[in-house]
Amino acid sequence: MSAARVPRGGLLGPAVLLLLLRLCCSLSVPRIASYFGTKTRYEEANPARSAHGSVLRPPAGERCSPVHLTAVIRHGSRYPTAKNIRRIHRLTELVRREAGGAAARLQELHSRWEMWYTEDMDGQLVEKGRDDLRQLARRLSVLFPSLLSEENLRTGRLSVKSSSKHRCVSSAEAFQEGLLQGGAGTQAFQEGLRQARGGAGAEAEYIHEVDDELMRFFERCRGYVEGVENNRTALMEVEKFKHGEEMEGVRRRVAERLGLPPQRLTPDLLEAAFFLCSYELSIKSVHSPWCFLFDEDDAKVLEYQSDLKQYWKRSHGHVITGLSSCPLFHHVFRTLDKAGRPRRSTDALPEPASILIGHAETLLPLLSLLGLYKDKTPPTAANYNSQHGRSFRTSRIVPYAANLLLVLYDCQRGPRLQMLINESPVRFPGLKEDAPLYREVRATYRHLLDGCDFYRECEGRPSRGPNTEL
Ligand SMILES: *[C@@H]1O[C@H](CO)[C@@H](O)[C@H](O)[C@H]1NC(C)=O
Repeated sequence: MSAARVPRGGLLGPAVLLLLLRLCCSLSVPRIASYFGTKTRYEEANPARSAHGSVLRPPAGERCSPVHLTAVIRHGSRYPTAKNIRRIHRLTELVRREAGGAAARLQELHSRWEMWYTEDMDGQLVEKGRDDLRQLARRLSVLFPSLLSEENLRTGRLSVKSSSKHRCVSSAEAFQEGLLQGGAGTQAFQEGLRQARGGAGAEAEYIHEVDDELMRFFERCRGYVEGVENNRTALMEVEKFKHGEEMEGVRRRVAERLGLPPQRLTPDLLEAAFFLCSYELSIKSVHSPWCFLFDEDDAKVLEYQSDLKQYWKRSHGHVITGLSSCPLFHHVFRTLDKAGRPRRSTDALPEPASILIGHAETLLPLLSLLGLYKDKTPPTAANYNSQHGRSFRTSRIVPYAANLLLVLYDCQRGPRLQMLINESPVRFPGLKEDAPLYREVRATYRHLLDGCDFYRECEGRPSRGPNTEL
């Protein structure tokens, strides 16, 4: 550090100015940034992001220590998928050729913004997304030093499972990088692994096991794919809202800001412009000129449209959606059962942590199955105005790097379980403590623990016999 000291004044002046300029202009976050639905950054959903012991809430009067952590985590920030990149192309062509508004920000769009997305980026994890996972791992290792330690990782005691998608596998790697003490880089990490695994000859590798049956159950459940995903009637509310009065209003206002006839800006292109603002922020941390097209009320309407889509496609809208996550549900509870079993002092210690990396499409059905974020009145195309206080807001629930944490404690009266979502405590439906006894949680989900048969629900026939995996 000291060797690179620069004399005061002189050289330092312009450098500092440049730095300040960078800081000011790249850190300014658009007002609409907390309405991006599943394209919201984690920092908007959870602004505190400090590893604070106060979120861990075993009962005060009882001696408890954490013995296991199961974490279901969504991949971090990513590039748009190829389909969205094609839409962005169509939007930018339209704006380049036809937009004639006079607003200064529109001029900036014309003169300073260049299309830089290419189809080969197709949904891959970006550097910011790697950082999302590294930082999350670091905070969790501060919260659970005995569970998520570098030592436990190096000695192969952690289980890491991932969806086969590139962005998830990369996220699984970044999470492991983050578990390094002091945040050493990838090279030091790989060297450490190489040594732990038997010296120079051994391949340096991250630990992960691809498991799409667990992490991409949604595409394997026929009842879900046919009954919901590919069924226009099942997603009718979304279609209605897309062409309804609120969305038409947004379309008119945005077209006007662009100086375009409203009919030229189709609902798909309107959505592409909104996503473009979100991508520029979540990928490059910049306040893009595309953001000026939307005010906060427009953003709320667009957020509602994507919440409607997630609700009817990935959540409580249809019971089969939650049930399609039965394999993951059973896997999680089997892991917790094992970790909470009484042990003699001579028994091997339980697995300290199970890390499961997937998608928003993985988390939402599981959270629905657990009975979370279920408002009394379902969101529909007709009740936008009465839904402002809804709990089902995907911007809060499934931003990039969203996580469901289940912490099992060893306590005097028996094992207890606490749930956190995006690092904030959340209670199990119907239970009054932050960390109820594990057997009370099991009682709450008895009907699912005894049933929730993937084959019966998804294929309409029972599985090949009793569940004998334990
Ligand atoms: C499509 O969805 C509707 C409404 O949820 C439902 O009644 C219908 O049975 C579904 N169609 C198929 C093929 O599953």
